[in-house]
Amino acid sequence: MFFHKVFMLCYLGIIMAPVHAVVHHKFEVRRTSHTRLCTTKSMLTVNGQFPGPTIYARRGELVVVDVINRADANITIHWHGVKMPRYPWTDGVDAVTQCPITPGKSFRQRVLLSDEEGTLFWHAHIDWARATVYGAIVILPPKTHTYPFPKPHAQLPILLGEWWNADVQQVYEDFIAGGASAQLSDAFLMNGQPGDQYPCSEQDALKLSVQPGKTYLIRMVNAMMNFIMYFKIKDHNLTVVGTDGAYTKPLNTDHIAIAPGQTIDFLLEANQPPGRYYMAARVYAGPVGYNYIPTTGIMDYVGNYTRPRPSSPVLPSFPEIDDGARSTHFSNKLRSLADDNYPIKVPMNITHNMFVTLSINTWPCPTNSCVFGYMLRASMNNVTMSLPETQNILEAYYKGIRGVFTPNFPAMTPIIFDFTEGYRRGNVAPAQSGTAVYMLDYNSEVEMVLQGTDYGVGDGVDHPMHLHGHSFYVVGSGYGNFDPNTDPPNFNLIDPPLGNMVAVPKNGWSAIRFKANNPGVWFMHCHYERHHSWGMKMAFIVRDGEGPNEKMLPPPPDMPLCEPPHTASTI
Ligand code: C2O
Ligand code: CU
Repeated sequence: MFFHKVFMLCYLGIIMAPVHAVVHHKFEVRRTSHTRLCTTKSMLTVNGQFPGPTIYARRGELVVVDVINRADANITIHWHGVKMPRYPWTDGVDAVTQCPITPGKSFRQRVLLSDEEGTLFWHAHIDWARATVYGAIVILPPKTHTYPFPKPHAQLPILLGEWWNADVQQVYEDFIAGGASAQLSDAFLMNGQPGDQYPCSEQDALKLSVQPGKTYLIRMVNAMMNFIMYFKIKDHNLTVVGTDGAYTKPLNTDHIAIAPGQTIDFLLEANQPPGRYYMAARVYAGPVGYNYIPTTGIMDYVGNYTRPRPSSPVLPSFPEIDDGARSTHFSNKLRSLADDNYPIKVPMNITHNMFVTLSINTWPCPTNSCVFGYMLRASMNNVTMSLPETQNILEAYYKGIRGVFTPNFPAMTPIIFDFTEGYRRGNVAPAQSGTAVYMLDYNSEVEMVLQGTDYGVGDGVDHPMHLHGHSFYVVGSGYGNFDPNTDPPNFNLIDPPLGNMVAVPKNGWSAIRFKANNPGVWFMHCHYERHHSWGMKMAFIVRDGEGPNEKMLPPPPDMPLCEPPHTASTI
């Protein structure tokens, strides 16, 4: 009772406080040398760190980051999952909300936290630079307030990543030229370390020292480029308490599945006989013949063991994909906390019903560089999005520059058929290329059914779809074709999970709802980097509302300049 009153007071306090605390950071992007798997390479980092620095802030605070480009490549930095109310200007998406920060230039980015609480992350959002340029954002409860679960003894962010021995920009350029899948990474990482299953990696493996009987809060981020991961700790159950910067009902589980772009907060109780236990993350589904070496760390009980330390702790066993295990079996169990203190508001007056197919397509090869003789591409509603090269959608929209985008992204797929059957030539219109956006009036309520399809060529896998500028409720999900008559009555409108990511099952569908209450230009895309590069992306433009607090704020004075178009060669 007392707790409840205190909470209500703080809650009002947050909303009414005129001045928010400001957290400052300086991010210097530069090339630094790092060694993994006995290979040393120079790579883009922030402040020389890999993973980059963790940003700590409290709910509702303003974070100001001075991004300084001291590298030889263009860069942008995105605050993944931060809604940036009315301020898309520093959302950090190359060609969508800004032109890149060129070498030698800097950009002061305001990261406007609002109701997010839990874990998010930041990453580069240009080419494949995010492979090495990323870090955690930890959003603590407001000072006068606490977690909706017993206070953990300590907390630790764990970021999953990928390592290429090769230069990532080179991997990216070869991938684009080859028109097929990219060279696979050489290792998976936990906080930048492969762990002792990989060569030359035992010494630096991640270690978590725990005291018997204590509870730890792990803030897990999947910052990987191309894989959904399973994570497990030998002999320990986990209690999930949050995802994507929002709390969930406690979920007790022996493993989690985490998609690229997703964050999951869970409690880990050190309640097993003291010893050393593996923490391990393994690919959920990979290409045939792919080797599934897990990235590992060690959970180590402090104190005198009552039994000797095993020299090699035993790896946990993972569910197999061909057991019929799917990542959505895990994510379907997540529920919003949805209590008096953390109420939810599922949109109920849907004004835009969208039905969007996700596909892998093939295109003719423009040169003779394609490994299959054709190019793989990807699309949403059969539109393969191309991004403007020397402009960005936000500035074009704000300044009324014509010819940069078209406001005609289709709300419906062009053809309805059995989306789960394999490729049938007659069924599939060639994907259209374009820079199509979908226009929304302020405060419209959107339902989007995302339908996974199997009519592409290979690479049929769950698509982790991500929306900028908003959180959405995942109100439903299923296998097979979405049925507009029988599926909606089963939607969860009571306590659906809130987030910025949804893993749409292969040959299945997911339904999300959100309220377009954030004016600006907001990107939506698959968070598999290869699908994103192939064009599985689109953008929403949310128009200004009528009220004074319903309009986009003006741009900052130091927006990176857009290079003039190369008119001579292109026209
Ligand atoms: Cu994690 Cu568009 O981004
Ligand atoms: Cu995808």
